[in-house]
Amino acid sequence: MTARTFTGARVVDPASGTDKVANVTVEGGVVTEVGGAVHGERVDADGLVLAPGLVDLHTHLREPGRDDAETVASGTAAAAAGGFTAVCAMANTDPVCDHAGVVEQVLRLARDAGHADVFPVGAVTKGLAGDDLAEIGAMAAVGVRCFSDDGHPVRSARVMRRALAYARTWDAVIANHAEEASLTEDAQLNEGEVAGLLGLAGWPREAEEVMVARDLILAAGLGARLHVPHVSTRGTVDLVRAAKARGVRVTAEVTPHHLSLTDEAATGYDPVFKVNPPLRTADDVAAVRAGLADGTIDAVATDHAPHAPEQKEQEWGQAPCGMLGLETALAVTLTDLVDTGTVGLARALDALSTAPARSRDLAGHGGPIVAGAPATLVLFDPAATWTVDPAASRSRSRNTPFAGRRLRGRVVHTLLRGRFTFRDGQVV
Ligand code: DOR
Repeated sequence: MTARTFTGARVVDPASGTDKVANVTVEGGVVTEVGGAVHGERVDADGLVLAPGLVDLHTHLREPGRDDAETVASGTAAAAAGGFTAVCAMANTDPVCDHAGVVEQVLRLARDAGHADVFPVGAVTKGLAGDDLAEIGAMAAVGVRCFSDDGHPVRSARVMRRALAYARTWDAVIANHAEEASLTEDAQLNEGEVAGLLGLAGWPREAEEVMVARDLILAAGLGARLHVPHVSTRGTVDLVRAAKARGVRVTAEVTPHHLSLTDEAATGYDPVFKVNPPLRTADDVAAVRAGLADGTIDAVATDHAPHAPEQKEQEWGQAPCGMLGLETALAVTLTDLVDTGTVGLARALDALSTAPARSRDLAGHGGPIVAGAPATLVLFDPAATWTVDPAASRSRSRNTPFAGRRLRGRVVHTLLRGRFTFRDGQVV
């Protein structure tokens, strides 16, 4: 590969604490110079922000099993278009990713597509059934370092405790979908005024908080690593904050939709707003924003959950939970968090890249942008505004809750080890 210099970009690299305008030269898959002259091809990056490629801790790629909704290729194309260079693929596929064969299959599909690095998440229990542990050792042997039954909680405290203890052998992370199922039978929407008005069965916040409290106690007792996915309530933020203060090895994520939307969005019964955990209240949004700002919540993670239109566009009670996220995460974060003064640009990019990479030990992602480091980068126009059009999505599905919203911040280029995966608005 010949040298290429991105000129005049604002380099925002949370990993090295850099925020300055500089030329960045890339050659042979690595950054060779920051702040030097132009070498080889010149790529004008005046007015753009150059940051470490984004890292998503929570992506549903649906393959194997539901390639009508998404494939590894289409999901990672959406990732590249959204500025992501790495995604952690959830295990609730068909067959379930509960043994090394599915891990290898997903890795192979990802390599063939070449749009982003995929880190498969293994199931905690066989078939996500909550009873017997999945083949955690065999999956760890092929590189898996995070296990989750996401979409389903590990109901049994005994099974969860064994999983945490076992995962500790590899210093792996358990990300438990925090939902006490006995409190969410038939639940449809956050328990409260809006659900009452709409006549939808309430989904109490305690269902999440009871499970998070249990898991924090179990992880603390074992010194094991716990990750709390899709934090949605004020109470969960408080629990994680207190646990971190006690030294519990816990990390947490929040989705763009829980940072941005409330249960009021469901007023028209449009199932595009149906998600697990449900959209909550303005008070919860304020709490998760504050938790992201003070570092209680480490990462913004998309929970990109594609569903084919004939599934998702049923009436509310029948429709599956989930929303697209990869192509809008950066712009929603810039528009609803940076523009509102909740977090600065550096913390926003930390939450979308450096912090999630660190929380999963994903070497080669999340920066730093220094000579010798992989050229795994995103360049975006922080001033560009655009309107979300579901039809333009690279995903196979269309279920974005942000359709028609005007957002600020548009990805221009994404590079994975020096190679464009997205260039001038096109997936490469
Ligand atoms: O809304 C959701 N959809 N939440 C989950 O936890 C799972 C996901 C899915 O797989 O569709």
